[in-house]
Amino acid sequence: TITRVHARAIWDSRGRPTVEAEVELAGGATGRASAPAGASRGAHEAIDLRDGGEHLAGMGVANAVALARAEIAPRLTGMDAADQAAIDAALCELDGTANKARLGANATVAVSLAVLHAAAAAAGEPTWRWLAQGRAVRLPLPEIQIFGGGAHAGRRTDVQDFMVMCPRAGSIARALEMTADVYRAAGILMDEAGLLAGTADEGGWWPNFNSNEQALVFLTRAIERAGYRGGEDVFISLDIAANELADGDGYFLPLDQRRMTSAEMVDRAAQWARTYPLISIEDPVGQDDMAGMARATALLGDEIQIIGDDFLVTNAARVKQALAGGACNAALIKVNQIGTVSEAAAALNAARDAGWATIVSARSGETEDISIAHLAVGWDAGQIKVGSFARSERMAKWNELLRIEEQLGSAARYAGIDAFPAAVR
Ligand code: PGA
Ligand code: ZN
Repeated sequence: TITRVHARAIWDSRGRPTVEAEVELAGGATGRASAPAGASRGAHEAIDLRDGGEHLAGMGVANAVALARAEIAPRLTGMDAADQAAIDAALCELDGTANKARLGANATVAVSLAVLHAAAAAAGEPTWRWLAQGRAVRLPLPEIQIFGGGAHAGRRTDVQDFMVMCPRAGSIARALEMTADVYRAAGILMDEAGLLAGTADEGGWWPNFNSNEQALVFLTRAIERAGYRGGEDVFISLDIAANELADGDGYFLPLDQRRMTSAEMVDRAAQWARTYPLISIEDPVGQDDMAGMARATALLGDEIQIIGDDFLVTNAARVKQALAGGACNAALIKVNQIGTVSEAAAALNAARDAGWATIVSARSGETEDISIAHLAVGWDAGQIKVGSFARSERMAKWNELLRIEEQLGSAARYAGIDAFPAAVR
């Protein structure tokens, strides 16, 4: 039984305020979680409640914290923490809007996750095991950024994330070693070429490339320089985050100085897929471009993973619409896009029922919270995206996965290539 729900403002990895929640249960068990925040947000996402005005550039969360204390706390006190569905239904009902606009998804996500951790603690189990409820789980295949771009790096590239994936690594521990090798090699190559300008919002290198294609060339070379075979050991994954490039009825790419139609965006993605060791592309077109996403899936879906992020916003109804429209073969799952654990699980299950791959994801603004490591394992999502291989708000998640892999011991299984949609394996 929940005896106390407390909320406070803390700071995220971009130095902006965010909501943290703490939940206490009658037996003494506690749970704590905090809300992440996106920079390239979809219009169909749940709302992050911000104070507005001049203080802290309007980013304050005092209202969200006050509402959590005044309304969420009394509503949940006395409820059974083990009944996550009832907790999350209560949060939705109390909010009363379709997109958490009244209480703020930053408050509901922190509380929902804190309840989950408290329930696991009461059961004496790590959160991943509590979530799995005896079902078999796998360690997720990591998707890790090497260069940042788009909204995370002053638009130094049009494409937002240039990432790598190591599906044949055999373990999380080995996948992280391989990624560390590629990250280091990429930094050295860029430094040698005078193209290194620091690190981006998620910790990937902040590049000075002259084109998006140059980034692909450098990443392919970095994989080789690190001693791996591109397209065998290490694959490239892109988040185009095309929503950020939308311009009228098409797209504008400032770095490439090109206006492109939806069809041209997809054709260029296909050309990159033929030229570079690509395995996955996220949001190749904008959030409402169903025809473009369906075209990308028809053209490329047998070879590479086509992920919907802003396109699906962790919303089960949008997953079902996309399925009916022939769009996507994978869903990115970000709990704060929808606002509660149960609703995110519903989106994940809708994607899984469709035969899609699922990727539990962090946001570009994060904290030391490690909930997503537990969700990715406990839900057996198969894949996890945390941003880069630097900065402790990222490394906290990777390090937690190493601990989970160790807890599983000889029972640990790495999802690897099986994490991709069936047609892509
Ligand atoms: P965001 O970016 O957290 O800024 O939305 C992450 C992503 O697009 O996957
Ligand atoms: Zn994205």
